[in-house]
Amino acid sequence: MPTFVKPTQAYQQGQRTLPRQYYTSPDIYAEEADRIFSRRWLCVGRAAELADSGDFVLRTVAGESIIVVRGQDGAVRAFYNVCRHRGTRLCEEPRGRFSETVQCPYHAWTYTLDGTLIGAPHMGEVAGFDKRDYPLRAAAVATWDGFLFLNLARESEPLEHAFAPLVGRFRRFNLATLRSARRIDYDVQANWKLLFQNFSECLHCPVIHPGLAKLTPYTSGENDLFEGPYLGGYMVITKQGGSLTMSGRACGAPVGELPAEDRNRVYFYSIFPNMLVSLHPDYVMFHTLWPDGPRRTAITCEWLFHPESFAQSGFDPDDAVRFWDETNRQDWHICELAQAGVASRAYEPGPYSPREGISAAWDREFLRAIGHTASRE
Ligand code: FES
Ligand SMILES: [Fe+2]
Repeated sequence: MPTFVKPTQAYQQGQRTLPRQYYTSPDIYAEEADRIFSRRWLCVGRAAELADSGDFVLRTVAGESIIVVRGQDGAVRAFYNVCRHRGTRLCEEPRGRFSETVQCPYHAWTYTLDGTLIGAPHMGEVAGFDKRDYPLRAAAVATWDGFLFLNLARESEPLEHAFAPLVGRFRRFNLATLRSARRIDYDVQANWKLLFQNFSECLHCPVIHPGLAKLTPYTSGENDLFEGPYLGGYMVITKQGGSLTMSGRACGAPVGELPAEDRNRVYFYSIFPNMLVSLHPDYVMFHTLWPDGPRRTAITCEWLFHPESFAQSGFDPDDAVRFWDETNRQDWHICELAQAGVASRAYEPGPYSPREGISAAWDREFLRAIGHTASRE
């Protein structure tokens, strides 16, 4: 069993927040794209979202548009959204379904769903041209507990290796079989790191989230992951049979065979560099974060329930969705205010409190990942 410690025990004295340029500089953003988002495993969403062959989702990673698509053989693959003829974007829709092929809108080069080029008008007249030399450029794809991940690295670290501290950790939450009830996309005018820092502490909860603070005391948390790329722990749900919902009651069947202590806990984990997971007794919420420049982040939030919940009469996922949609928006707004402030010439790094130890640990991990031994002024 993991060992949990109080946030104050995991705290290291003396750490300050990151300097302004980490939130504003195009150069640092380019370094992040190169050293983090082009190398790490990134959560795309649920594998079940791409239910049938041809189903695809488009995501922008490190400035690259990537198509993630289920093939006719059932396998999910990721391709750069770049035609091998003259480089044109193949696809503009954020989500959808291809027929059996993907056709470039410019000169109709046509690819199968596994990336093979099968049609290239007039190229037969070109000396030495062989369609086999021009498949779509691929990126790595892997799944973990029903979640789909992609990795742009040429030689990506195996996901099971990268995720070793997480493998099996959430088994009781039955993640692989949960089903999505709702998905909401947000557009936040804040640097992605502010959103991780915000997720990693509840010092702000009584101030920003009065609804949340009523259901779970902000000082109730303990953490079992407090150094490294995966960080978090639990907070206590005060009410018996309660959850984080508008009604304060659980709104679905238990997500798994949860031991008694887990029925009154919500677990929050950040999974570097683009995923947040929040495990409640009756549902699992996850966020994926997609930086778009130093000052903007697209966020997708999704709510997963046990398949049996969908069959229950009166099942109302909105009880959870509305609660977190409101809470999310409170967080996004405060992060936008933080972005505005840290971009100011008046801002200088401030001291973290013992209640923000996980945010500080996240910053340390970020600096390691980008290869800065200390934050740069
Ligand atoms: S650029 Fe795609 S077919 Fe010409
Ligand atoms: Fe918050």
